[in-house]
Amino acid sequence: MRLLVCGGAGFIGSNFVRVRLREHGDEVVVLDKLTYAGRRENLAGLDVAFVHAGIEDAAAVGGAIEGAEAVVNFAAETHVDRSIAEPDAFVTTHAFGTWVLLEAARAHGVRYLQVSTDEVYGSIESGSFTERSPLAPSSPYSATKAGADLLVSSYFHTYGLKTLICRGSNNYGPYQYPEKLIPLMVLNALHGDRLPVYGDGMQVRNWLYVEDFARAIGQVLAHGAPGEAYNVGGPDECPNIEVVQRILALCGADEALIEHVTDRPGHDRRYSLGSEKVRGLGWQARTRFADGLAETVRWYRENAAWWEPIRSGEYREYYQRQYGSQIKG
Ligand code: NAD
Ligand code: TYD
Repeated sequence: MRLLVCGGAGFIGSNFVRVRLREHGDEVVVLDKLTYAGRRENLAGLDVAFVHAGIEDAAAVGGAIEGAEAVVNFAAETHVDRSIAEPDAFVTTHAFGTWVLLEAARAHGVRYLQVSTDEVYGSIESGSFTERSPLAPSSPYSATKAGADLLVSSYFHTYGLKTLICRGSNNYGPYQYPEKLIPLMVLNALHGDRLPVYGDGMQVRNWLYVEDFARAIGQVLAHGAPGEAYNVGGPDECPNIEVVQRILALCGADEALIEHVTDRPGHDRRYSLGSEKVRGLGWQARTRFADGLAETVRWYRENAAWWEPIRSGEYREYYQRQYGSQIKG
Protein backbone atom coordinates (compact mmCIF):
# COMPACT_ATOMS: atom_id res chain seq x y z
CA MET A 1 0.00 0.00 0.00
CA ARG A 2 1.19 3.55 -0.68
CA LEU A 3 0.97 5.57 2.54
CA LEU A 4 1.48 9.18 3.50
CA VAL A 5 2.64 9.09 7.11
CA CYS A 6 2.54 12.51 8.80
CA GLY A 7 4.69 12.87 11.91
CA GLY A 8 6.55 9.73 10.86
CA ALA A 9 9.91 10.97 12.21
CA GLY A 10 8.64 10.86 15.81
CA PHE A 11 8.49 7.99 18.27
CA ILE A 12 5.36 6.07 17.29
CA GLY A 13 5.36 7.19 13.65
CA SER A 14 8.88 5.88 13.01
CA ASN A 15 8.10 2.56 14.72
CA PHE A 16 4.93 2.34 12.58
CA VAL A 17 6.93 2.95 9.39
CA ARG A 18 9.46 0.28 10.41
CA VAL A 19 6.68 -2.26 11.00
CA ARG A 20 4.93 -1.37 7.71
CA LEU A 21 8.10 -1.76 5.63
CA ARG A 22 9.12 -4.99 7.35
CA GLU A 23 5.75 -6.72 7.56
CA HIS A 24 3.78 -5.26 4.62
CA GLY A 25 6.32 -3.97 2.09
CA ASP A 26 4.47 -0.64 1.89
CA GLU A 27 5.64 2.35 -0.11
CA VAL A 28 5.90 5.21 2.38
CA VAL A 29 6.16 9.00 2.14
CA VAL A 30 6.89 10.64 5.49
CA LEU A 31 5.91 14.28 5.98
CA ASP A 32 7.30 15.77 9.18
CA LYS A 33 8.08 19.25 10.48
CA LEU A 34 11.03 17.93 12.54
CA THR A 35 10.13 19.73 15.75
CA TYR A 36 12.37 19.03 18.77
CA ALA A 37 10.70 15.58 18.93
CA GLY A 38 11.08 14.63 15.26
CA ARG A 39 14.40 13.26 14.05
CA ARG A 40 15.64 11.97 10.70
CA GLU A 41 17.79 9.53 12.72
CA ASN A 42 14.57 7.74 13.73
CA LEU A 43 14.17 6.69 10.08
CA ALA A 44 17.84 5.85 9.46
CA GLY A 45 18.29 2.95 7.04
CA LEU A 46 14.61 2.89 6.03
CA ASP A 47 13.61 3.16 2.38
CA VAL A 48 11.12 6.06 2.55
CA ALA A 49 10.60 9.37 0.75
CA PHE A 50 10.83 12.33 3.13
CA VAL A 51 9.10 15.73 2.95
CA HIS A 52 10.25 18.28 5.50
CA ALA A 53 7.10 20.32 6.16
CA GLY A 54 4.34 20.98 8.66
CA ILE A 55 0.87 19.47 8.22
CA GLU A 56 -0.42 23.06 8.26
CA ASP A 57 1.45 23.71 4.97
CA ALA A 58 -1.30 23.06 2.39
CA ALA A 59 1.03 23.22 -0.63
CA ALA A 60 3.49 20.69 0.82
CA VAL A 61 0.68 18.40 1.93
CA GLY A 62 -0.96 18.67 -1.52
CA GLY A 63 2.26 17.50 -3.16
CA ALA A 64 2.99 14.73 -0.66
CA ILE A 65 -0.48 13.18 -0.86
CA GLU A 66 -0.31 12.60 -4.64
CA GLY A 67 -0.67 8.88 -5.30
CA ALA A 68 -1.28 7.94 -1.65
CA GLU A 69 -3.96 5.35 -0.86
CA ALA A 70 -4.21 6.44 2.77
CA VAL A 71 -3.00 9.15 5.14
CA VAL A 72 -1.98 8.18 8.67
CA ASN A 73 -1.57 11.21 10.89
CA PHE A 74 0.77 10.99 13.87
CA ALA A 75 1.89 14.65 13.64
CA ALA A 76 1.30 16.33 16.97
CA GLU A 77 2.75 18.10 19.94
CA THR A 78 2.67 15.29 22.45
CA HIS A 79 3.92 16.27 25.88
CA VAL A 80 1.35 17.28 28.51
CA ASP A 81 3.86 19.28 30.57
CA ARG A 82 4.84 21.36 27.52
CA SER A 83 1.15 21.93 26.74
CA ILE A 84 0.71 23.40 30.22
CA ALA A 85 3.72 25.73 29.83
CA GLU A 86 3.18 26.70 26.16
CA PRO A 87 -0.11 25.59 24.56
CA ASP A 88 0.26 27.60 21.30
CA ALA A 89 1.72 24.94 19.01
CA PHE A 90 -0.78 22.37 20.29
CA VAL A 91 -3.66 24.47 18.99
CA THR A 92 -1.99 25.20 15.65
CA THR A 93 -0.94 21.64 14.88
CA HIS A 94 -3.95 19.77 16.24
CA ALA A 95 -6.72 22.11 15.06
CA PHE A 96 -5.40 23.92 12.00
CA GLY A 97 -2.95 21.22 10.87
CA THR A 98 -5.54 18.44 11.11
CA TRP A 99 -7.98 20.57 9.09
CA VAL A 100 -5.40 21.08 6.31
CA LEU A 101 -4.78 17.32 6.13
CA LEU A 102 -8.50 16.54 6.07
CA GLU A 103 -9.04 18.99 3.23
CA ALA A 104 -6.21 17.37 1.24
CA ALA A 105 -7.61 13.89 1.91
CA ARG A 106 -11.06 15.07 0.79
CA ALA A 107 -9.72 16.69 -2.38
CA HIS A 108 -7.89 13.47 -3.31
CA GLY A 109 -10.54 11.02 -2.04
CA VAL A 110 -7.97 9.34 0.21
CA ARG A 111 -8.75 7.31 3.36
CA TYR A 112 -7.67 9.14 6.53
CA LEU A 113 -6.57 7.64 9.86
CA GLN A 114 -6.10 9.97 12.85
CA VAL A 115 -3.83 8.73 15.63
CA SER A 116 -5.32 9.83 18.93
CA THR A 117 -5.03 9.13 22.61
CA ASP A 118 -6.86 7.73 25.66
CA GLU A 119 -6.39 11.17 27.23
CA VAL A 120 -9.35 12.57 25.25
CA TYR A 121 -11.66 10.68 27.65
CA GLY A 122 -10.04 12.22 30.75
CA SER A 123 -9.39 10.37 34.00
CA ILE A 124 -11.29 7.30 35.25
CA GLU A 125 -11.15 5.98 38.83
CA SER A 126 -12.18 2.40 38.06
CA GLY A 127 -13.29 0.45 35.01
CA SER A 128 -12.37 1.37 31.43
CA PHE A 129 -13.53 3.78 28.75
CA THR A 130 -15.26 2.48 25.65
CA GLU A 131 -15.52 4.29 22.32
CA ARG A 132 -18.98 5.50 23.45
CA SER A 133 -17.64 7.25 26.56
CA PRO A 134 -17.93 11.05 26.43
CA LEU A 135 -14.82 13.07 25.62
CA ALA A 136 -13.71 14.96 28.77
CA PRO A 137 -10.11 16.07 28.25
CA SER A 138 -8.23 17.87 31.03
CA SER A 139 -5.02 19.37 29.60
CA PRO A 140 -4.39 21.65 26.62
CA TYR A 141 -2.76 18.59 25.00
CA SER A 142 -5.78 16.32 25.39
CA ALA A 143 -8.31 19.08 24.70
CA THR A 144 -6.73 19.92 21.34
CA LYS A 145 -6.41 16.21 20.49
CA ALA A 146 -10.13 15.80 21.30
CA GLY A 147 -10.89 18.79 19.07
CA ALA A 148 -8.99 17.15 16.24
CA ASP A 149 -10.96 13.91 16.73
CA LEU A 150 -14.25 15.80 16.49
CA LEU A 151 -13.13 17.55 13.33
CA VAL A 152 -12.13 14.20 11.81
CA SER A 153 -15.56 12.74 12.62
CA SER A 154 -17.25 15.79 11.10
CA TYR A 155 -15.52 15.07 7.77
CA PHE A 156 -17.07 11.60 7.77
CA HIS A 157 -20.57 12.86 8.64
CA THR A 158 -20.52 15.95 6.44
CA TYR A 159 -18.45 14.98 3.42
CA GLY A 160 -18.42 11.19 3.55
CA LEU A 161 -14.62 11.11 3.84
CA LYS A 162 -13.49 7.62 4.87
CA THR A 163 -12.08 8.46 8.31
CA LEU A 164 -10.80 6.27 11.13
CA ILE A 165 -9.57 7.16 14.62
CA CYS A 166 -7.22 5.05 16.76
CA ARG A 167 -6.99 6.06 20.44
CA GLY A 168 -3.94 4.52 22.05
CA SER A 169 -3.01 4.27 25.71
CA ASN A 170 0.48 5.27 26.96
CA ASN A 171 3.08 3.93 24.53
CA TYR A 172 6.66 2.99 25.41
CA GLY A 173 9.59 1.42 23.57
CA PRO A 174 12.61 2.38 21.44
CA TYR A 175 13.02 5.91 19.99
CA GLN A 176 10.82 7.67 22.59
CA TYR A 177 12.00 11.21 23.38
CA PRO A 178 13.27 11.27 26.97
CA GLU A 179 10.82 13.92 28.20
CA LYS A 180 8.30 11.08 28.72
CA LEU A 181 8.17 9.05 31.93
CA ILE A 182 9.84 5.78 30.90
CA PRO A 183 12.83 6.99 28.84
CA LEU A 184 13.41 9.90 31.23
CA MET A 185 13.61 7.54 34.20
CA VAL A 186 15.77 5.02 32.31
CA LEU A 187 18.34 7.62 31.27
CA ASN A 188 18.40 9.23 34.72
CA ALA A 189 18.84 5.83 36.38
CA LEU A 190 21.68 4.92 34.00
CA HIS A 191 23.38 8.26 34.82
CA GLY A 192 22.79 8.06 38.58
CA ASP A 193 20.62 11.23 38.39
CA ARG A 194 17.56 11.82 40.58
CA LEU A 195 14.20 10.42 39.33
CA PRO A 196 11.45 13.09 39.59
CA VAL A 197 8.14 11.44 40.54
CA TYR A 198 5.14 13.80 40.42
CA GLY A 199 3.11 13.94 43.65
CA ASP A 200 2.55 10.59 45.36
CA GLY A 201 3.37 8.58 42.20
CA MET A 202 0.11 6.65 42.50
CA GLN A 203 -1.24 7.80 39.12
CA VAL A 204 -1.99 4.82 36.91
CA ARG A 205 -1.25 4.41 33.21
CA ASN A 206 -2.18 1.60 30.82
CA TRP A 207 1.12 0.65 29.10
CA LEU A 208 1.17 -0.32 25.42
CA TYR A 209 4.33 -1.47 23.62
CA VAL A 210 4.84 0.72 20.58
CA GLU A 211 4.95 -2.09 18.01
CA ASP A 212 1.64 -3.39 19.34
CA PHE A 213 0.10 0.04 18.75
CA ALA A 214 1.67 0.16 15.27
CA ARG A 215 0.07 -3.18 14.38
CA ALA A 216 -3.29 -2.10 15.79
CA ILE A 217 -3.21 0.99 13.57
CA GLY A 218 -2.47 -1.25 10.59
CA GLN A 219 -5.38 -3.52 11.50
CA VAL A 220 -7.77 -0.57 11.78
CA LEU A 221 -6.53 0.85 8.49
CA ALA A 222 -7.19 -2.47 6.77
CA HIS A 223 -10.43 -3.57 8.45
CA GLY A 224 -11.91 -0.61 10.39
CA ALA A 225 -15.36 0.72 9.51
CA PRO A 226 -15.29 4.27 8.09
CA GLY A 227 -16.42 6.91 10.59
CA GLU A 228 -15.50 4.75 13.60
CA ALA A 229 -13.06 5.21 16.47
CA TYR A 230 -11.10 2.29 17.99
CA ASN A 231 -9.54 2.20 21.46
CA VAL A 232 -6.18 0.44 21.71
CA GLY A 233 -5.22 -0.23 25.33
CA GLY A 234 -2.11 -1.99 26.60
CA PRO A 235 -2.35 -5.34 28.41
CA ASP A 236 -1.12 -4.05 31.79
CA GLU A 237 -1.65 -1.04 34.00
CA CYS A 238 0.79 0.13 36.62
CA PRO A 239 1.15 3.05 39.08
CA ASN A 240 4.01 5.41 38.21
CA ILE A 241 5.98 4.68 41.37
CA GLU A 242 6.03 0.98 40.51
CA VAL A 243 7.14 1.74 36.94
CA VAL A 244 10.03 3.74 38.39
CA GLN A 245 10.96 1.00 40.88
CA ARG A 246 11.00 -1.59 38.09
CA ILE A 247 13.25 0.64 35.97
CA LEU A 248 15.66 1.14 38.87
CA ALA A 249 15.85 -2.63 39.35
CA LEU A 250 16.44 -3.23 35.61
CA CYS A 251 19.19 -0.58 35.59
CA GLY A 252 20.78 -1.83 38.82
CA ALA A 253 20.28 1.62 40.41
CA ASP A 254 19.29 2.58 43.95
CA GLU A 255 15.73 3.51 45.00
CA ALA A 256 17.25 6.38 46.99
CA LEU A 257 17.44 8.20 43.62
CA ILE A 258 13.63 8.67 43.67
CA GLU A 259 12.63 12.28 44.38
CA HIS A 260 8.96 13.22 44.86
CA VAL A 261 8.42 16.63 43.21
CA THR A 262 5.46 19.01 42.88
CA ASP A 263 2.54 17.40 41.09
CA ARG A 264 1.54 18.35 37.52
CA PRO A 265 -1.40 20.83 37.52
CA GLY A 266 -4.68 19.07 36.64
CA HIS A 267 -2.89 15.70 36.69
CA ASP A 268 -5.16 12.86 35.47
CA ARG A 269 -5.18 10.09 38.08
CA ARG A 270 -5.84 7.05 35.91
CA TYR A 271 -6.31 6.18 32.25
CA SER A 272 -7.87 2.93 31.11
CA LEU A 273 -9.20 1.74 27.77
CA GLY A 274 -11.37 -1.23 26.88
CA SER A 275 -10.08 -2.68 23.58
CA GLU A 276 -12.84 -5.14 22.69
CA LYS A 277 -13.71 -3.32 19.47
CA VAL A 278 -10.20 -3.46 18.00
CA ARG A 279 -9.85 -7.06 19.19
CA GLY A 280 -12.90 -7.74 17.07
CA LEU A 281 -10.75 -6.76 14.06
CA GLY A 282 -8.26 -9.48 14.97
CA TRP A 283 -5.71 -7.43 16.91
CA GLN A 284 -4.18 -8.48 20.20
CA ALA A 285 -1.28 -7.03 22.18
CA ARG A 286 1.75 -9.33 21.94
CA THR A 287 3.98 -7.70 24.56
CA ARG A 288 3.36 -7.73 28.32
CA PHE A 289 4.69 -4.76 30.27
CA ALA A 290 7.43 -6.70 32.10
CA ASP A 291 8.95 -7.94 28.82
CA GLY A 292 8.52 -4.67 26.92
CA LEU A 293 10.06 -2.66 29.74
CA ALA A 294 13.12 -4.93 29.92
CA GLU A 295 13.50 -4.67 26.13
CA THR A 296 13.16 -0.88 26.29
CA VAL A 297 15.83 -0.56 28.99
CA ARG A 298 18.11 -2.80 26.91
CA TRP A 299 17.54 -0.60 23.83
CA TYR A 300 18.42 2.63 25.67
CA ARG A 301 21.51 0.99 27.20
CA GLU A 302 22.73 -0.11 23.75
CA ASN A 303 21.82 3.05 21.82
CA ALA A 304 23.66 5.87 23.55
CA ALA A 305 24.49 7.30 20.11
CA TRP A 306 20.74 7.93 19.64
CA TRP A 307 20.10 9.74 22.93
CA GLU A 308 23.43 11.48 23.64
CA PRO A 309 22.76 14.33 21.15
CA ILE A 310 19.29 14.78 22.68
CA ARG A 311 20.56 14.96 26.27
CA SER A 312 23.05 17.66 25.32
CA GLY A 313 20.69 19.76 23.14
CA GLU A 314 17.27 21.49 23.55
CA TYR A 315 16.33 18.83 26.06
CA ARG A 316 18.85 20.19 28.56
CA GLU A 317 17.14 23.59 28.66
CA TYR A 318 13.71 21.96 28.84
CA TYR A 319 14.86 19.74 31.71
CA GLN A 320 16.24 22.71 33.63
CA ARG A 321 12.98 24.64 33.17
CA GLN A 322 10.83 21.67 34.18
CA TYR A 323 12.82 20.22 37.08
CA GLY A 324 15.80 22.52 37.75
CA SER A 325 14.46 24.26 40.85
CA GLN A 326 13.46 20.96 42.48
CA ILE A 327 16.16 18.42 41.70
CA LYS A 328 19.86 18.29 40.94
CA GLY A 329 21.49 16.41 38.07
P1 NAD B 1 6.45 12.46 19.16
O1 NAD B 1 6.41 13.76 19.90
O2 NAD B 1 7.56 11.50 19.40
O3 NAD B 1 6.39 12.72 17.58
C1 NAD B 1 5.58 13.70 16.99
C2 NAD B 1 6.07 13.88 15.57
O4 NAD B 1 5.21 14.84 14.93
C3 NAD B 1 7.50 14.45 15.47
O5 NAD B 1 8.21 13.77 14.47
C4 NAD B 1 7.29 15.91 15.11
O6 NAD B 1 8.37 16.47 14.38
C5 NAD B 1 6.02 15.81 14.26
N1 NAD B 1 5.26 17.06 14.22
C6 NAD B 1 4.87 17.86 15.24
N2 NAD B 1 4.16 18.90 14.79
C7 NAD B 1 4.10 18.76 13.44
C8 NAD B 1 3.48 19.50 12.40
N3 NAD B 1 2.80 20.63 12.65
N4 NAD B 1 3.58 19.04 11.13
C9 NAD B 1 4.28 17.91 10.84
N5 NAD B 1 4.91 17.17 11.79
C10 NAD B 1 4.80 17.59 13.07
O7 NAD B 1 5.03 11.80 19.47
P2 NAD B 1 4.55 10.29 19.54
O8 NAD B 1 4.62 9.83 20.93
O9 NAD B 1 5.21 9.52 18.46
O10 NAD B 1 2.99 10.49 19.19
C11 NAD B 1 2.51 10.34 17.87
C12 NAD B 1 1.00 10.43 17.89
O11 NAD B 1 0.45 9.41 18.73
C13 NAD B 1 0.46 11.76 18.43
O12 NAD B 1 -0.64 12.14 17.65
C14 NAD B 1 0.03 11.43 19.84
O13 NAD B 1 -1.02 12.28 20.28
C15 NAD B 1 -0.43 10.00 19.68
N6 NAD B 1 -0.33 9.16 20.88
C16 NAD B 1 0.81 9.12 21.62
C17 NAD B 1 0.88 8.27 22.73
C18 NAD B 1 2.14 8.15 23.56
O14 NAD B 1 2.11 7.52 24.61
N7 NAD B 1 3.29 8.68 23.13
C19 NAD B 1 -0.22 7.49 23.08
C20 NAD B 1 -1.38 7.57 22.30
C21 NAD B 1 -1.42 8.40 21.21
P1 TYD C 1 4.03 11.06 30.51
O1 TYD C 1 5.09 10.13 30.02
O2 TYD C 1 4.29 12.54 30.41
O3 TYD C 1 2.68 10.65 29.80
P2 TYD C 1 1.15 11.17 30.05
O4 TYD C 1 1.17 12.35 30.93
O5 TYD C 1 0.74 11.52 28.66
O6 TYD C 1 0.43 10.01 30.63
O7 TYD C 1 3.75 10.75 32.03
C1 TYD C 1 3.30 9.47 32.45
C2 TYD C 1 2.99 9.56 33.94
O8 TYD C 1 4.21 9.79 34.64
C3 TYD C 1 2.08 10.72 34.29
O9 TYD C 1 1.23 10.33 35.36
C4 TYD C 1 3.03 11.80 34.78
C5 TYD C 1 4.16 11.00 35.42
N1 TYD C 1 5.51 11.63 35.34
C6 TYD C 1 6.26 11.76 36.52
O10 TYD C 1 5.84 11.39 37.63
N2 TYD C 1 7.50 12.35 36.41
C7 TYD C 1 8.00 12.79 35.25
O11 TYD C 1 9.14 13.34 35.23
C8 TYD C 1 7.22 12.63 34.05
C9 TYD C 1 7.74 13.09 32.72
C10 TYD C 1 5.98 12.03 34.15
